[in-house]
Amino acid sequence: MSLYLVFLLAVAKASRNTLQEKTEVDAGKPKLAGIIVKASRKTLPQNTKVDAKKESTLEVTIKLPRNVTIPGVIAFGDSIVDSGNNNNLRTILKSNFPPYGQDFRGKFATGRFTDGRVPSDFVAERLGIAKTIPAYLDPALKGKDLLKGINFASGGSGYDPLTAKIVRVVSLEDQLKYFQEYKEKIKAIVGEEKAKFMVENSLYLVVASSNDLAHTYIARSLRYNSTEYPDYLADMSSKFVKKLYGLGARRIAVFSAVPVGCLPSRRTLNGVKRKCSENLNKMALQFNAKLSPALVALRKKSPGSKIVLVDVYDILHNMIENPKKYGFEVANRGCCGTGLFEVLILCNKINPFTCKNASSYVFWDSYHPTEKAYQVIVDKLLGIYIPQLV
Ligand SMILES: *[C@@H]1O[C@H](CO)[C@@H](O)[C@H](O)[C@H]1NC(C)=O
Ligand SMILES: *[C@@H]1O[C@H](CO)[C@@H](O)[C@H](O)[C@H]1NC(C)=O
Ligand SMILES: *[C@@H]1O[C@H](CO)[C@@H](O)[C@H](O)[C@H]1NC(C)=O
Repeated sequence: MSLYLVFLLAVAKASRNTLQEKTEVDAGKPKLAGIIVKASRKTLPQNTKVDAKKESTLEVTIKLPRNVTIPGVIAFGDSIVDSGNNNNLRTILKSNFPPYGQDFRGKFATGRFTDGRVPSDFVAERLGIAKTIPAYLDPALKGKDLLKGINFASGGSGYDPLTAKIVRVVSLEDQLKYFQEYKEKIKAIVGEEKAKFMVENSLYLVVASSNDLAHTYIARSLRYNSTEYPDYLADMSSKFVKKLYGLGARRIAVFSAVPVGCLPSRRTLNGVKRKCSENLNKMALQFNAKLSPALVALRKKSPGSKIVLVDVYDILHNMIENPKKYGFEVANRGCCGTGLFEVLILCNKINPFTCKNASSYVFWDSYHPTEKAYQVIVDKLLGIYIPQLV
């Protein structure tokens, strides 16, 4: 297990009492994200800036060809896209407390691992579908909430089955099981024909590998070396996409690995100079290099499929090297706390060092980008990849 994770677990254990208290308090409240949104809006002062009119306006930036409809966005993966699935799991990997969500409408901590919205939300908005895509495990979801797509992602998950197991979150395999359940649910609501259309035409996002590379690799290093492990992950990734295709998905965007060696927490572990870990970055690039031809081959042999590897590595790496070029000031530490190591329960509202303006930071905590960084990345990449996905 990675040193960082051991450290986190130790801190988590130390603060378990606080956590248990919190859970008990939570138990009295409705547990479901949807309900909490409403409840927390009620408790907001009268004229807080939740402008209903503004809220309903989507910032649509992608025009699809006239004969193409993308009815929904469906996400699988880890904390980069999780929109609150971990809230009700028995795991320490949660983020449903402030300052997480401080830039979400109503300043609400939804369980997204950032200050606001996540990439699947921005993708849905830019396509004119919805401002946010809800978490599947939110028990407050109503039938109609399922019809613009859904989010199965679980923070801490990964392509290696061990990754989700260590931290007790939803594995990718189980996310696929939920997807099958979801298909039945929408069939019951809109009928077989429309459900089939929804499944075949929605845009699927598959976002994983960071936790495998940054954490699980250490636990696997007796079995795999630093080229074999990324190769194994790429193999697991393309197997996952193949299964997803088998369940009816056609438009599948698989996110590449990001430069995990440059995540602020990895810099902190890399010595006083806080340089990026080039070994980890190399593993991320190895994963991408292996996955790219595998997905091309899969697309060729899967009739009607539009399977694309979305290169997130280059843009994020560029952003980290030249933050000003993208409108950011700081890229080597997170906004939350000192920005050097805070993530999850260490990123909390009693931490006095949290920055004032998250949108001038590439990273929100020591592991996850800010919503501003997500937005810039999604806007850049959608223009490039949507033509290959329609
Ligand atoms: C839309 O029309 C274009 C051009 O006629 C065609 O190439 C494409 O296959 C069509 N797409 C769909 C989903 O029907
Ligand atoms: C990992 O092991 C394989 C096969 O044993 C070998 O070809 C490769 O060079 C090794 N990679 C590294 C980085 O040692
Ligand atoms: C926050 O930072 C962004 C980017 O540096 C800047 O555009 C914006 O004006 C800042 N907002 C405030 C309230 O200072």
